[in-house]
Amino acid sequence: MAIAKVAVIGCGLMGSGIAEICAKAGLKTVVREVSEDFLKKGAERVQASLAKAMQRAIEKDKQDPTQAQIAMAQALGCLQFTTRLEDCKDADLVIEAIIEDKTQKQDLFKQLDALCKPGAILCTNTSNISITELASVTKRADKFAGLHFFNPVPVMKLVEVIRGVLTSEATLGELKGFAEKVGKTSIIAKDTCGFVVNVLLVPYLFDAIRLVENGVASIRDIDTGMKLGCGYPMGPLELLDFVGIDTTYHISVNMFEEFKSDRYAAPPLLKKMHLAGLHGRKTGKGFYDYTDPKNPVPMKLS
Ligand SMILES: NC(=O)c1ccc[n+]([C@@H]2O[C@H](COP(=O)([O-])OP(=O)(O)OC[C@H]3O[C@@H](n4cnc5c(N)ncnc54)[C@H](O)[C@@H]3O)[C@@H](O)[C@H]2O)c1
Repeated sequence: MAIAKVAVIGCGLMGSGIAEICAKAGLKTVVREVSEDFLKKGAERVQASLAKAMQRAIEKDKQDPTQAQIAMAQALGCLQFTTRLEDCKDADLVIEAIIEDKTQKQDLFKQLDALCKPGAILCTNTSNISITELASVTKRADKFAGLHFFNPVPVMKLVEVIRGVLTSEATLGELKGFAEKVGKTSIIAKDTCGFVVNVLLVPYLFDAIRLVENGVASIRDIDTGMKLGCGYPMGPLELLDFVGIDTTYHISVNMFEEFKSDRYAAPPLLKKMHLAGLHGRKTGKGFYDYTDPKNPVPMKLS
């Protein structure tokens, strides 16, 4: 089956990026949100990101401005925004990117399974809910998989394709082809909590928080250490602020529950920051204060 039409469910941070890359690849893309208000915000996010990409293509890649405008208009022409789930019924591939809540995702997949054509593939962008458990509410576990993109989706090159216990080889093959079509490199992982990237990344981020807790080095020096010592584009504490302290805390709770290992136990400082609303860039304060976004200043945390 050739994937020609994609439905993206949820147009928040991740869904808007996923919709953008599908449209840029020339795939008909229907985007569903829960209300007109969220739909408008999501559509504006996609349009602003496409306009930014067009500007970058003209200024950095020296693309002909007319060609760049045509490409943007073509991408916009591929997009349909809706609040009606029924509008997703003829999609070949559905990518769910709603909030990280198992019950809400399962309710949605029950509806999608009843609505979508029998050959359609259903995917979730979940960070660490079991793919097999989400697939179990449908009658097409062979056509169900995880498709885990990274933030910001238009920029990050990787997508993890997660194989549930019953996901078929044919489905994995289709998804690898889709990843290539939207300009991503795919890696395949088994259905384990955190897949590949978060299993490796989360303990590293937590070790950085423990260095702060133990007063081993300053926030700025820890970040500088990893950027200049290891060539990482962002230090671990900058990255935590970017991903979100709240998101990382929720991920740690799920991973600790799954593995019962200290590697995934949230350091007390992470929990305190979460409770205090220091969620990083999104709330203006985390390990850094973003009052002046161009010049973040390390916070005094105790
Ligand atoms: N934020 C990240 O860095 C990141 C990275 C990888 C994966 N994820 C995963 O992607 C998913 C989405 O995360 P996000 O950061 O984009 O969240 P978000 O809160 O920015 O967006 C979620 C959107 O889904 C909408 N929504 C909720 N229920 C819906 C429904 N039934 N139908 C349509 N829309 C619905 C909400 O209105 C909201 O706009 C989560 O499962 C998350 O774990 C997030």
